[in-house]
Amino acid sequence: MTVQKDISLKHYNTFGIDAKAKYFCEINTLDDLRQALQLKEYPNNFIISGGSNMLITRDIDALVIHVNLKGIELVSEDENHVILKVMAGENWHDMVLWTLDKGYGGLENMSLIPGNTGTAPIQNIGAYGVELKDTFVSCQAMKIEDQSLQEFSKKDCQFGYRDSYFKNVGRGKYIIVSVNFKLTKRNHRLNTSYGSIEQELVEKGITNPSIKDISNAVVAIRKSKLPDPKELGNSGSFFKNPVLSAKKFSNFLKQYPEAPYYEVAEDAIKVPAGWLIEQCGFKGKRFGSVGVHAKQALVLVNYGDGTGQEVLDLANNIIHAVHEKFGIEIAPEVNIIK
Ligand code: EPU
Repeated sequence: MTVQKDISLKHYNTFGIDAKAKYFCEINTLDDLRQALQLKEYPNNFIISGGSNMLITRDIDALVIHVNLKGIELVSEDENHVILKVMAGENWHDMVLWTLDKGYGGLENMSLIPGNTGTAPIQNIGAYGVELKDTFVSCQAMKIEDQSLQEFSKKDCQFGYRDSYFKNVGRGKYIIVSVNFKLTKRNHRLNTSYGSIEQELVEKGITNPSIKDISNAVVAIRKSKLPDPKELGNSGSFFKNPVLSAKKFSNFLKQYPEAPYYEVAEDAIKVPAGWLIEQCGFKGKRFGSVGVHAKQALVLVNYGDGTGQEVLDLANNIIHAVHEKFGIEIAPEVNIIK
């Protein structure tokens, strides 16, 4: 493990923000990680993995540790299920494709989500009717303070909508090193309830979809709406969809009967932030080197040399405009490094 100095993080965050790491090292083993955390000359550290859910707004005056732990292990199996242990640095989508090739079901709706496996539990990633928590069994994390390894059950992780223990009480205290998933070997529980998946399958003439068909449909939908970070810097949805109480929602619906929405519980109705942002006129608008994606207003983009501060200023303008027009607070889902 070598420590480098003054390294650009442009290729380590999907927004493509050209912030600098004062010190940088890549770790490939748990021993490397332990050692890096114990280096006395670099008391401050900053963990980066896939860099797909962060907006860096400043240079990082610390030892940036790039977690590159690799490997997928079959922990156990029976007639119906497998338990897999996936190391944190495995690219999420490559891992999903690997499970599909083996015929394991459960992750197909979450195809093509950028980032690495180890960061997926932090915000309980989700797409097209399925969330990470649905197949999650446990994860192993290293406590930064004393480098001990701890096991977190699903309950310990306190998963919520784009939320977990690691975003709240556990924030900044642990590095997830591996994740265990329980996947199906047969009798897969297919989830095609999300409208656009059904539509995509119908268009392809598929009536009895396999897990791979669902993955292909999700990949096609995502490609049509969401920019590829390799071509246009972005971090997926920048904001969470706001959840309104029944009372607030009924007032909202009176004024905007055409708004899309979906009920998550009796007193909790989600309104797509993308729709609210589009109504405020931001969709497809460019402001200098940053902007709002033309096909999905929930996604902020960096056209090349935008700074994290420019993205943040745009995000704040959007939050303000949505509040002015609708009286609704939207909040970032991306981790903002201020
Ligand atoms: N909509 C608009 N204008 C827009 C964008 C969306 O009117 O610019 C409307 C759509 O027409 C649709 C509704 O909003 O009626 C929902 O849109 P979409 O299906 O694209 O999903 P979303 O709610 O905007 C969420 C997730 C995405 C995930 C999709 C599909 C959040 C914050 N985002 O977006 O997750 O892929 O559902 O499940 O929950 C991510 O987290 O990075 C991400 C991309």
